[in-house]
Amino acid sequence: MERYGIILGAGMGTRMKSSVPKVLHPVMGKAMIEHVISTLETINIEKTVVVAGHKAELLEKALGDRVLYALQAEQLGTAHATMMTHEHLKGLAGVTVVTYGDGPLLAKKTLEELFSHHEKSGAKMTLLSAHTDDPTGYGRIIRNTEGRVVRIVEQKDATDEELQVTEINSGVACFDNELLFEALSHVDNNNSQQEFYLTDLVEIISNMGHKVEAVVCHFTDTLGINDRVQLAEATRIMQARINEKHMRNGVTMMDPLTTYIEADVEIGAEVVIEPNTHLRGTTIVESGAFIGTGTQLTNAKVGAGAYINASVVVDSEIGANATVGPFAHLRGESVVGKGSRIGNFVEVKNSTLGEGVKAAHLSYMGDAEIGARVNMSCGAITVNYDGKKKHRTVIGADTMIGSNVNLVAPIEIGANAYVAAGSTVNENVPNEALAIARTRQENKVGYMKKFEE
Ligand code: UD1
Ligand code: CA
Repeated sequence: MERYGIILGAGMGTRMKSSVPKVLHPVMGKAMIEHVISTLETINIEKTVVVAGHKAELLEKALGDRVLYALQAEQLGTAHATMMTHEHLKGLAGVTVVTYGDGPLLAKKTLEELFSHHEKSGAKMTLLSAHTDDPTGYGRIIRNTEGRVVRIVEQKDATDEELQVTEINSGVACFDNELLFEALSHVDNNNSQQEFYLTDLVEIISNMGHKVEAVVCHFTDTLGINDRVQLAEATRIMQARINEKHMRNGVTMMDPLTTYIEADVEIGAEVVIEPNTHLRGTTIVESGAFIGTGTQLTNAKVGAGAYINASVVVDSEIGANATVGPFAHLRGESVVGKGSRIGNFVEVKNSTLGEGVKAAHLSYMGDAEIGARVNMSCGAITVNYDGKKKHRTVIGADTMIGSNVNLVAPIEIGANAYVAAGSTVNENVPNEALAIARTRQENKVGYMKKFEE
């Protein structure tokens, strides 16, 4: 049976107090609606249609052609929003799941259970419900004496007795696709909010003589984000889920509560992560690496056995068994070779360092290509910027750059060469040469005697 997905995301999200559509706010590095899309992608959905409305162009820009779009120009309710997908879905045989873009915690396992129950039971509609101590704001599931779902009543339309019900509507439901569009045409807006409610389909489909079923799931799966307090709650839950997955795969975390790993990060086994660390974007950490406290990795690749402490790495790669930090900054598509040592207060920008390079303290390498086993001594820097343009520095393998050297780019220093401490070098240095570019020392003998009486 074909499966289709509809994600509602046209609402303003007024309570977010934001100029960005609610469903684009990130939860652990990924827009909430993208979490929903990713989950749908894992369960063989043939077509996913996002209903956009409020700032639809921002939604389309963020999601691209990963999904199809339907426009809901005026937000007249969830049934109305669902109906807007007719040009993509109406008349197709199969099962359609309707989900909300503001519900990023819906788990794959829960969706699978919903589909399999729907397909096995022969129901035409199967909704996902949950129990909670505080059902405020949610639609309530009303069951008859035999326990069958007969209706959903919205908070604003509920009687005092109905408000006592603690089984809530998650908003997620599976439908026979052909029947869905037929039933939608019967929804009206005779309710306190004068909206076309998707939840009315329970009664409509039952009255058409079809079976409506419910699957009860864990409440956290259903959490809908309406404001920034709920955004923070959902972020905590997502953080815990991501961390649990990595720990079960063999990653050690001293304090998962202060370890922030975004949804798409990949981590190998036997990696140790200390507290107060952030792993963002498309970061990959290979097995056995150590990520010390205070480290922030964004789109970084960390090789096996590397050791990183209290450092910031952005869009850059660190080779196996290299050590970085404390207090190093790597950025701009830099590559640090295997076994290299980048120490404290060293910045590497848009540079490629070969294997075994040492820059143990207070160094800047910008727009440079640095050969294997080069030693950048304390305070050695590339002078890459002339005030208008950036220039490149190339250093051959096994060369020693002394302390406090300025390499004025564009410049090439040969292999196995030596640049003396304190030199400001602005001409190329051949292989195996010693370059000294500093004023000669002069000792004024007896000079201090002048001050004696
Ligand atoms: C809805 C359900 C409620 C359920 C709750 C779960 C209805 C009538 N009520 O209420 O039973 O307990 O979700 O979170 O369905 N949207 C549109 N177009 C519209 C209106 C809404 O695209 O015209 C989208 C919103 O962007 C949002 C989603 O639908 O992503 C849910 O809308 P929202 O207004 O938050 O519904 P609730 O009042 O929370
Ligand atoms: Ca909601």
